[in-house]
Amino acid sequence: MPKLWSGRFSKANSTLLDRFNASLDFDKRLYIEDITGSIVHAKMLAKQNIITKEQSCRIVEGLKKIQDEIDNEKFAFDIADEDIHMAIEKRLIELIGEDGKKLHTARSRNDQVALDFRLYVLKSSTKIEEKIVLLIKTLLDISKKHTTTMLPGMTHLQHAQPINFAFHLLAYVSMLKRDFERFQSSIDRNSISPLGCAALAGTPHDIDREYVAKELGFKSVSINCLDTVSDRDFALEILFNIATLMMHISRLCEELIIWSSSEFDFILFSDEYSTGSSIMPQKKNPDVAELLRGKSGRVLGNLVSLFTVLKALPLAYNKDMQEDKEGVFDSVDTALISLEILNESLKTMSIKKENMAKACRVGHLSATDLADYLVKNLDISFREAHFITGKVVAKAEELNKDLSELSVSELCSVHDKLNEDVLKYLDLNHSMNARDSYGGTSIKSTKKQLEYFEKWLNSLK
Ligand code: ARG
Repeated sequence: MPKLWSGRFSKANSTLLDRFNASLDFDKRLYIEDITGSIVHAKMLAKQNIITKEQSCRIVEGLKKIQDEIDNEKFAFDIADEDIHMAIEKRLIELIGEDGKKLHTARSRNDQVALDFRLYVLKSSTKIEEKIVLLIKTLLDISKKHTTTMLPGMTHLQHAQPINFAFHLLAYVSMLKRDFERFQSSIDRNSISPLGCAALAGTPHDIDREYVAKELGFKSVSINCLDTVSDRDFALEILFNIATLMMHISRLCEELIIWSSSEFDFILFSDEYSTGSSIMPQKKNPDVAELLRGKSGRVLGNLVSLFTVLKALPLAYNKDMQEDKEGVFDSVDTALISLEILNESLKTMSIKKENMAKACRVGHLSATDLADYLVKNLDISFREAHFITGKVVAKAEELNKDLSELSVSELCSVHDKLNEDVLKYLDLNHSMNARDSYGGTSIKSTKKQLEYFEKWLNSLK
């Protein structure tokens, strides 16, 4: 069969052009969306008496058979068909003859591809949301067991104040919750049917766009056809949402990598999710976390690349826009497998509580508490208290001890007003639990945060 648009051409296309122009190799993954859209379109055409009921039924039957063929790998893809839309239409005409040629009435590939791609993006966003929820559940499960596991909270990657491990993980849960909500608001915003916009300006046929939108599960119909066939904001949104999600994952992975080093030794990845070295027999590497960190760069690249493709395009459809799909497919695949493997790695990783606790006794983590004690109880100005605490820290360093390990006499040797009372404030657990303000790291406050996230998860069901 000659190309479906070849009427005005007297020579066949070069095979080089076929190879260059085609998107079939990658857009064939939109076949279900394409067939679903075409079935609803054919039903609408019959409902509006644009084609007969019989023609519509034959078209729908033919499309279902094609879906079956593709499902079962019996469909002969031919690059000369250019894209999934024309490959399916050509096959429909082969299967049912002249009636098949009626399907494209009141439609263009421009609104067709906008529909298929939008459906794909919406469906993928939901799949990603489901995996984010699973990851959050795992983080909450770990958190529940570690509200009293203390580790050094850091700023500048230097020991700062003692916090608990659950509080640390809940910081990531907060990020993932926002990520989830970002996907959800994109779904809500982009649930708009493009079908019926035709090439760019609408159609003279008496179509029913509302019916199509409803049948396809969209919330509404797009308002301006010219915008609709030109718009790829929804693709940018999913790319941004994935880039942000992966940036959060990458930060967590960076910490996991640091924590799994011999210097920290806070966690141990299970053998199932660790790799070895081809030369150094003793090695166990955190490749999963490293790859996840690396892949965050790749998905950011996909976002930048589509922005660059779109930024200077005149309205409406331009073939440049065919470049919109591969990056989105890649980012979606990357996000899905990343969420899954991170979840499994976390579930199977062991947490070395004792090493975390030991690390808290390095770096004088309760220094701020001592200064606060001096201000509150001994009526010393904060600046002076800061200075005295500095002196106490220097004493501890001189004795090769942590601040929390100093005796009363050692404290008194620095400042005569320091007495037994102060020991309590140097205690690391006391220090952690003193941070009881809303959102703080005290056990009480951490438990409140846990409850909040659990309640949120339950509200999703
Ligand atoms: N394969 C094309 C794409 O992915 C489909 C739309 C083609 N439209 C056109 N007017 N040539 O963008």
